Amino acid sequence: MNEQILIIDDDLEILDMLELILAREDYTVLRAQKGEDAIAVFQSKPIDLVITDMSMPGMGGLEVLKAVKRLDANMEVIVLTGNATFENAVQALKEDGAFNYLTKPLENIEDLLFSAKRAIEKRKLRVENKTLIEELKNEVEIRKTVENQLLQSKTNLQSVFDGISEPLIMVDRNLTVKVLNEAAKAYTGLACYQDIIEKPCYAVLAGKSDVCSNCRLPMAFLTRNPATFERKGLKDPARIEEVVIYPICSKIENEGSAIIRISDITEERKIEEQLMRADRLASLGQLSGGIAHEIRNPLASINLFADILSDQEKFQRSSQENELFGEIKDNINRIEKIIKRVLDFAKPPVATSDNIDLNELTRESVKFWSSKLRKSNIGLKLDLKDDIPAVQGDVIGLQQVINNMVLNAIEAMGEGGGDIRIRTSFSGIAGENQDTVYLQVCDTGPGVPKDQQEDIFNPFFTTKPTGTGLGLSISHQIIKRQGGTFALESNPGAGTTFIVALPATGSNPQQLDSVPVDSPSAGASAYGF
Ligand SMILES: Nc1ncnc2c1ncn2[C@@H]1O[C@H](COP(=O)(O)OP(=O)(O)OP(=O)(O)O)[C@@H](O)[C@H]1O
Ligand SMILES: [Mg+2]
Repeated sequence: MNEQILIIDDDLEILDMLELILAREDYTVLRAQKGEDAIAVFQSKPIDLVITDMSMPGMGGLEVLKAVKRLDANMEVIVLTGNATFENAVQALKEDGAFNYLTKPLENIEDLLFSAKRAIEKRKLRVENKTLIEELKNEVEIRKTVENQLLQSKTNLQSVFDGISEPLIMVDRNLTVKVLNEAAKAYTGLACYQDIIEKPCYAVLAGKSDVCSNCRLPMAFLTRNPATFERKGLKDPARIEEVVIYPICSKIENEGSAIIRISDITEERKIEEQLMRADRLASLGQLSGGIAHEIRNPLASINLFADILSDQEKFQRSSQENELFGEIKDNINRIEKIIKRVLDFAKPPVATSDNIDLNELTRESVKFWSSKLRKSNIGLKLDLKDDIPAVQGDVIGLQQVINNMVLNAIEAMGEGGGDIRIRTSFSGIAGENQDTVYLQVCDTGPGVPKDQQEDIFNPFFTTKPTGTGLGLSISHQIIKRQGGTFALESNPGAGTTFIVALPATGSNPQQLDSVPVDSPSAGASAYGF
């Protein structure tokens, strides 16, 4: 659309002339002979420039100028002035913001057209600038809002991060730590975030100066697939850690990050192993119990025939033959002991409800070991806690456990002798339910090598030429049936401690005088000690 110019003059001739000149240049011309009419037109039509005479009856040019500027500060106004109003025109220019003034009569049309053109351009520029500034202001506002939202999301994310109890660390492709939660900060052992953020993950997590040799991050970035693996604890190699890497892909090539989650799964693994062992023990118990039972009858026959054949009254035997028969009988006895052990192992749980005082049971049990301990040059120390709560369970089974632990300790220390210390203790307040009672048997023997510590509770694991490897697995089973735990603590070269933990009943322990207690020799024949 053509630019619209509003011309105002009380002189009709001048209005006609101006219209003629401007229309020739393709401007649309609107006209008014009075200031008041001009303002009415200005308010109702889109106007790009106002040209007004200075001196008019009624509303004069200066007033028109002021009124126009009030209505639209960006509007340009050119004033036409005769000699009489020349000073007013200068004032209009200087003080009231007129664009230009032209003197009447118009001598140079070009001056008018040039001024009109420039005034319209100036107005356009100002309007455009104003629009741009508005847009810019809006953009700044939007940016501020988005920044605030981002800040809020970052704070929310950090709170969620911190709320997770497992260490979480976000690293970029250069393995630089970008974000981490409280648990991860605690994991690094470093005091403040500044020591961790923007540092390489291998430095803050593993204390290394170079990338870890088996680092899985590059592969996770490449494949964009999460990776899970287990490893020894970085801070404590005795712990087992599960590490999960979740790559976060970016649209920009060679960018992106990954979240690393570290979980301590040591306890989980222990429980799994215990469950697996319990499962193995249960099926092994059934199987071996069946086999042992079937061997018993033919073995009884062999025993009987060996007795008949070695009968001195019926057969005349040489001393060598008698010696061989003696060997046969010894081995039959040994097989019987093994069968007895296997059947014990397979025995279904006995529902017992004896209230047992572990101190008393320990004193009774060790009595029978006194001569063997003396002969083996082993000192025995009892460190029994007073007022220990009673435990409920199978007294014969528990005595078997104590005997197994003491015999293992004696066998472990061998010819060289040493010391055995049996300790009882309890957690919580005496006499209350849910307390745990502990029985520990410590020796000063060679200890159990680390790589065997998991196996020693497995049936048939033995390092002894004549051992059955069932002592500890039977003990484990007995303790488990009574709701307790059986654990080992051993540092190779620094002795061994077996720890039995049993739930206390809270009732008063019964006196064990009436409790049947096997003698060591009976124990030996019964359990192969
Ligand atoms: N106090 C100990 N010190 C060192 N090693 C031990 C100790 N107690 C047990 N062990 C190890 O654990 C293994 C298994 O013990 P366990 O009592 O189950 O069977 P065993 O003693 O070998 O045979 P048995 O069935 O005759 O008891 C032993 O062979 C030994 O290697
Ligand atoms: Mg043993």
